[in-house]
Amino acid sequence: MSTLYKGISSLVLTGESFGDIRVIEDAALAVDEGKVKYAGSAEAAPACDEVVDLKGQTVIPGFVDSHSHLIFAGERSEEFASRMTGKPYAAGGIRNTVKATRAASDEELRANAKKLIAEFHASGITQFEIKSGYGLDIETEVRSLKIASELTPHTTYLGAHVVPEGIQRSDYVALVKGEMLEAVKPYAKWIDVFCDQGAFDVAEAKQILQAGIAAGLKPRLHANQIANIGAIPMAVELDCASVDHATHLSAEDIAALSGSNTVVTLLPAAEFSTKSSYPDGRRLASSGVTLAIATDCNPGSSYTTSMSFCIAIAVREMGLSPEQALWAATKGGAKALRSSGGGLEVGDQADFVVLDAPSHVFISYRPGVQLVSATYIAGKKVVGA
Ligand code: NIG
Ligand code: FE
Repeated sequence: MSTLYKGISSLVLTGESFGDIRVIEDAALAVDEGKVKYAGSAEAAPACDEVVDLKGQTVIPGFVDSHSHLIFAGERSEEFASRMTGKPYAAGGIRNTVKATRAASDEELRANAKKLIAEFHASGITQFEIKSGYGLDIETEVRSLKIASELTPHTTYLGAHVVPEGIQRSDYVALVKGEMLEAVKPYAKWIDVFCDQGAFDVAEAKQILQAGIAAGLKPRLHANQIANIGAIPMAVELDCASVDHATHLSAEDIAALSGSNTVVTLLPAAEFSTKSSYPDGRRLASSGVTLAIATDCNPGSSYTTSMSFCIAIAVREMGLSPEQALWAATKGGAKALRSSGGGLEVGDQADFVVLDAPSHVFISYRPGVQLVSATYIAGKKVVGA
């Protein structure tokens, strides 16, 4: 059964290189068996079994959120409030969520994640990654990743989030790269480390990532959020798919990233929620670095599921153009996951979003307004009347 979506005022297509966006006005999209059959001008559209009139709305590829921490219990609004009046963000707050997560049942963790995924869909996110990292013992890391793997193919083992209470640092590093890694391996595709001040240093992160790689996982890294402790050269050396946060970068870091396959994943809502300065996205973009934008949804540093909010900040505060930001939240996210998606070329899975707006610029031009009127995954409507 094929469907023709007509009446599209503006159809956004994404190319393979950073910021490559093509806008077709007065367009149509045809979908057959969950895949894109045609994306182009209305004039040349093929006949289909059914027709849906989108009445002048905009169509963009579904957002790909390459960084989220959806398996947790509890909330930390008090910590947020105290940051807004001057207390700095510290990695140690993670331990509060660890306590609540360990105490929660599988059913509670699954229900909370599903609620957040419904919010993702409403925000136009059609593919997403989920990390563990609030268990920090074998049992809860395994439970977290089992649940995550029911919800997405993009699962990440983040046993190295912080050193939990009641264990020596060196013993914990040994556990993360030994027994815990073995136990979570069947449920994780990626391995990640929070390599930063107050979490893990570069030598520890390198050992942990190398153990993960030896076990068949692929590396990615939380780096340079709180301070620059020298994580970037190591991440590039290990061919991490992405370095995430990257709030504090040196000129040497940017040069190393621009000649690499490592994507820089900007997490604008994390700087917003921790009251930190924003990284210079425009400088990164003009240095030839490939950028992604992700929500970093978690209860500590970035409790949002809104990709539009993240795009608006990236445009307003990081200096990206609306086109660069849209590319980063679609193709960029897919590249950060070394996955397909984020595009609407013929043959691509038909993951797309209908915006009640005349163009994609409205995403940041109308911040805080729900413009998503429908979200489709593989041609099936998951949000919208
Ligand atoms: O990506 N930076 C490390 N991890 C999360 C925050 C975790 C927390 O504060 O609970 C992040 O921002
Ligand atoms: Fe994170």
